[in-house]
Amino acid sequence: MPNSTTEQRKRVLSGMRPTGKLHLGNYMGALYNWVRLQREYECYFFVADLHALTTDYADPSLIAENTREVALDFLAGGLDPEQCVVFVQSDVKQHTELHLYLSMITPLGWLERVPTYKEQMENLTTKDLHTYGFLGYPLLQSADILIYQADFVPVGQDQVAHVEITREIARRFNQFYPKKYSDYPKSVGEILKARIAHEFMYVLPEPQVLLTPSPKLPGTDGRKMSKSYGNTILLSDPEPVIRQKLKPMVTDPARIRRNDPGNPEVCPVFDLHKVFSSAETQQKVREGCTTAGIGCIECKGWLADAVVAELAPIQERRQKYESKPALVEEILEAGAVRAAKRAEKTMVEVRAAMGLSN
Ligand code: TRP
Ligand code: SF4
Repeated sequence: MPNSTTEQRKRVLSGMRPTGKLHLGNYMGALYNWVRLQREYECYFFVADLHALTTDYADPSLIAENTREVALDFLAGGLDPEQCVVFVQSDVKQHTELHLYLSMITPLGWLERVPTYKEQMENLTTKDLHTYGFLGYPLLQSADILIYQADFVPVGQDQVAHVEITREIARRFNQFYPKKYSDYPKSVGEILKARIAHEFMYVLPEPQVLLTPSPKLPGTDGRKMSKSYGNTILLSDPEPVIRQKLKPMVTDPARIRRNDPGNPEVCPVFDLHKVFSSAETQQKVREGCTTAGIGCIECKGWLADAVVAELAPIQERRQKYESKPALVEEILEAGAVRAAKRAEKTMVEVRAAMGLSN
């Protein structure tokens, strides 16, 4: 519904690497919040397939398929192409172009000291990450954000350092390539129309983090839910699979026998109840667990009910989109066109500021 107010809404941008079908942790950590932002802001959400290439360059064969799965989960999870722009990063070539220009002004030290750089190097030992592309991962992310002149970037704590380097790069760009005074708006009216002061002073405004509140979401083994631990529940898991996965889930380790009372506060099953179950169910669990009035099997059954109910509308939408692959293609193509249009608007200013021809 593009109307005059659309232009004045603040802009939000976020992306996700295509790691395959999304799990409850991905959902609660990002998508769930994005769905709530799309009504209030002008939103751009994308699948970061170029970021996947920074680690999977030697065998990119799964990236396209994973990208499609994540896009399907975006739509199933409630991103509405009528309300926000959903696209695939590599479809919008301007990201690549801005990444190159920004690479010219980025000191190596800034990239080398991003905390995720060393961590990932140490963790992903099966891959050779001594590449230019991998070092430049946060810079590509900066280009993603700055190219939409985004006001807000909804991310979890793990991505805050990347938004911080984005702000530093924007500042450096603006210092090297200030807008000429003659490019400032000519009338007070135009100045007032600018959403934020930055808009007419700098080519690349500094974005702000919109920290995603992320509840503790353990996987079935009690550790953080993560694809690499193999402890996930997928948004697309059918009901019997959800029940089967929850059944052996780790509980309060002190509750060994059925008639031992337990402590929900140290039980990962209860952490999930806190996210997905109603206040009444949580109260029933607290009471039943601490008095040994219920068994863990029963408790997990209630949790499964809540998770199944939460996922029902998501799976319904997934089926609809899965049965119409052409529709999904169309949505992503239209999204890329809209995103490219907005990105190109920034690029025209960037090229001019750097003395390149448009
Ligand atoms: N690096 C992010 C992640 O691993 C994904 C991402 C790529 C992103 N580009 C972005 C997030 C731009 C926010 C904004 O989850
Ligand atoms: Fe955990 Fe529920 Fe068992 Fe209590 S009854 S230990 S909350 S699974």
